[in-house]
Amino acid sequence: MFDFDRMIERRGTHAAKWDMMARLSGIKSPDAIPMWVADMDFAAPPGVTEALAVETRRAIHGYYADTGTWAAALADWMARRHGWQLDPTWVSPTPGIVSGLGLILQAVSDPGDEVVVFPPAYHAFRKIILANERRILDSQLVEIDGRYAMDLDALQLQLTPRTKIVFFCSPHNPGGTVWSVEEIRALAGFCAERDLILVSDEIHGDLVLDGDVRHTPAIAAAPEIADRLITCVAATKTFNLAGAHVGACVTSNPALKRRLDARIAASGLGSYNSFGMIATEAAWRTGDAWLDALLPYLAANRDLFDARIEAAARGARSMRLSATYLAWVDFAGTGLPPEEVAARIRDRARIFASPGPQFGPGGKTWLRFNFATPRPILEEALARLKDAFA
Ligand SMILES: Cc1ncc(COP(=O)(O)O)c(C=O)c1O
Repeated sequence: MFDFDRMIERRGTHAAKWDMMARLSGIKSPDAIPMWVADMDFAAPPGVTEALAVETRRAIHGYYADTGTWAAALADWMARRHGWQLDPTWVSPTPGIVSGLGLILQAVSDPGDEVVVFPPAYHAFRKIILANERRILDSQLVEIDGRYAMDLDALQLQLTPRTKIVFFCSPHNPGGTVWSVEEIRALAGFCAERDLILVSDEIHGDLVLDGDVRHTPAIAAAPEIADRLITCVAATKTFNLAGAHVGACVTSNPALKRRLDARIAASGLGSYNSFGMIATEAAWRTGDAWLDALLPYLAANRDLFDARIEAAARGARSMRLSATYLAWVDFAGTGLPPEEVAARIRDRARIFASPGPQFGPGGKTWLRFNFATPRPILEEALARLKDAFA
């Protein structure tokens, strides 16, 4: 019903993944393959395309009226997919999750305050913290049996009176860790004891690849800390609508929400982009079958990628992802220096992958590869990687 093998030319379409590649990577070759930013090369669900087509056919593009249907669609989605009974009055739309994180920082902390991050972690966390003149407190993840785990005992020793917020990525990017209820509860309890605000970025929550693993929203795992919790969710990663630039910050604490909404108002962000709202509402309302078809396709791409990269680069190890479409590969075991690995991938394979050091401490020997692309492109990338390490 959905053809994820279909290759759609994206070069020259303002697709950052393709059209920013040469500038950011230095790869000049016209046949370069982008495996960096978290953006899929698949057409959006048909319900999204149709909703946008209706809008463009009407051809009047005035200000968007938020009549409540958008948050209601989000609430229905969360109830249906995650068993989370979310009250639409808890929802503050923001122009994406990263901007939401910036607004949260401004709402609940002061310049110079510290924000806990669990590296290796999504690089935009670091950038938005620093751009807001807050400080990063790195709480290094540890690898146990090929999976990341938080070390809250070590974090306890690092806290200072200036530590105010925890940025939690659930599921985790990179590494694809789906946190267990016990792990989320331990972190929630930690935040409650140390009076920290917990920000749970659950943008990858719909992208769980295996049937025996479930994403648990932080609010469902630890409802008792709801007053200090802000959950960030979006349709944009799930349905490949990143250009729509809309996400939601959700908190059931009215005082916390008022502070956040005050920052949204102060930045003039209380009026929303109609295309983004229409596209994401349509995705939540009509996208179930598309997502149910996408997930096994991604899981098969993961399995193919893992098997072939480990065969191509002897000693490389791809972390077993439970979620996301971002393979996280450690090349330390190849014995090659990181610069040599990077050069082989960039210059020989003509592939732009995300450099591990971007993700903070612990990323030095790693690279992140986005495999959310039609299988013929993935096959080509894997063949080139094989040659690059031959
Ligand atoms: C954990 C995480 N949060 C947020 C984002 C980006 O969100 P947005 O485009 O809505 O700012 C990404 C994109 O890859 C991500 O991985």
